[in-house]
Amino acid sequence: MINWQDMGKLHVISKLEGILGKWFDVEMFYTDAHGKLWSDHASKTYSFKSHFMKVQMQSAYGHDFLAEDIEKMVEKMASTNEVVVYESFFKHVKGVAFPVKVDGEFAGAVFVYPFVLDTATSADVEMLKAQMIECGTTPADAAVACEKIKKMWPRELEYVKELTSLVAEEMVSFHDEITKREDQIQALSSEVGEKYRYHAMIGKSKKMQAIYSLLEKISNSESSVLINGENGTGKELVAKAIHFYSPRKDKMFLAVNCSAFNDNLLDSELFGHVKGSFTGAVKDKKGLFETANGGTLFLDEIGDTTLSMQVKLLRVLQEGTYLPVGATAPKKVDVRIVAATNKNLKEMMAKGEFREDLYYRINVINVALPPLRERHDDIPVLMDYFLKKRCDEAGKALKTFAKKCMEKMLDYPWPGNVRELENEVERLVVLAGDEKMIGPENLSPRIIDWGASAEPAFKGVNTEGTLRDALEQLEIMMIREGLKRCNFNKSKLAKELDISRASLIMKVEKYGLDKRAKAA
Ligand SMILES: Nc1ncnc2c1ncn2[C@@H]1O[C@H](COP(=O)(O)OP(=O)(O)OP(=O)(O)O)[C@@H](O)[C@H]1O
Ligand SMILES: [Mg+2]
Repeated sequence: MINWQDMGKLHVISKLEGILGKWFDVEMFYTDAHGKLWSDHASKTYSFKSHFMKVQMQSAYGHDFLAEDIEKMVEKMASTNEVVVYESFFKHVKGVAFPVKVDGEFAGAVFVYPFVLDTATSADVEMLKAQMIECGTTPADAAVACEKIKKMWPRELEYVKELTSLVAEEMVSFHDEITKREDQIQALSSEVGEKYRYHAMIGKSKKMQAIYSLLEKISNSESSVLINGENGTGKELVAKAIHFYSPRKDKMFLAVNCSAFNDNLLDSELFGHVKGSFTGAVKDKKGLFETANGGTLFLDEIGDTTLSMQVKLLRVLQEGTYLPVGATAPKKVDVRIVAATNKNLKEMMAKGEFREDLYYRINVINVALPPLRERHDDIPVLMDYFLKKRCDEAGKALKTFAKKCMEKMLDYPWPGNVRELENEVERLVVLAGDEKMIGPENLSPRIIDWGASAEPAFKGVNTEGTLRDALEQLEIMMIREGLKRCNFNKSKLAKELDISRASLIMKVEKYGLDKRAKAA
């Protein structure tokens, strides 16, 4: 419940303890609801403000006498909300106790001890001295202790009572404050925790979080979506997440890879055909649009469709009607389209390879999935995720990656993106056999060799694909190697590369290259 250990560190508590000691020569201590003493009074090195208590605690049974007082008072405190002046084990020696209650429940008590009332006579003090000697204190020590014990005046006692209750109140409000903060941290961390995942997508990078929040925003919409991204970046996962968080979630989600069919076959696949419309059409066939009616159709690789297919797709999107192959009457359909491509449709439009009207019709909402090399933070998270998945599937105990293996995987640019990473982890789990730790020796050669050559800057640059992508790869390699060489000193590297420091920082941020520490 209450964190008693930290109470002594609380400034206001030690301040009040100091005041009580200085003004009244008394000690302040506190216990939990079971009477366990949480202040340092039982420690051998504690420096007492009250000489009487020092003598008591140094005597053979002093601790036991104190424990007896505490036990009695804790029992009493549980059923009161008032400050209590109590008589201790030693005759005429008194203390003040006040309960600490959290939400009405007894959590512990604060004590101020020891003193005698100013009305105590010299006979009373003599009696006390005798009791002390009887309990094992030397006559000399008992005499000094009794001489020095605080004689409390009524007004002083009121003060002490007030200060005692103040300490208890401070403890409760400190506890409340901590609890409130812990609740806030809990709430915040669960919020952050959720951002590691969206539907089946894993990733904690800022770029993925931006994708999650975009997907969340469009989750009530029925608009068409175009997903752009390199191979293996998770376009199909996004399409599924869109469907399963949409108002159509209870209806069908169907995916079709437009590049897997020639035009005629795709036509019949999407729109169906009537019996006899071509050789082999031995009976009527429902198309995917009809099957997906009410749901979502995912048109993968839409950049690979012919212009004539694009016309047909535009018609379904605009009018909600289509003509099955060989049919004479159009059919009506209500399907939401989510399309994906790894091609640059704008460039294709400029070359006349993709219809502009269709582009604008499908690109109502655009989701641009960044390649894995631009979201470095996701690599360790995805590695752990796939590792656990593979180990579970194979019925093996959970393995871990050796630091060197992790570093190699963080350095590699993953041209095949998440799919390539997933396959690599699968391979590693198989090759590791019964080894618990996955070392770098089992990594695919291309990953081991990455950056290891004498001319790392030129190794592995794609000589195919767009010039822009190749230049980007070169830039990444030069900066990564340069950072290592310059010991991550960006000013030095910026000078070497002859670019501004700010521009280097932006590039490092863009490609997520400053994250080596995280691999450790
Ligand atoms: N963020 C992610 N979290 C977990 N798994 C992912 C993530 N992104 C991709 N994957 C996995 O990587 C593989 C490739 O994903 P997906 O098929 O969705 O990519 P894609 O962009 O459609 O690729 P392609 O263009 O090659 O068709 C799948 O096995 C998928 O489960
Ligand atoms: Mg795909």
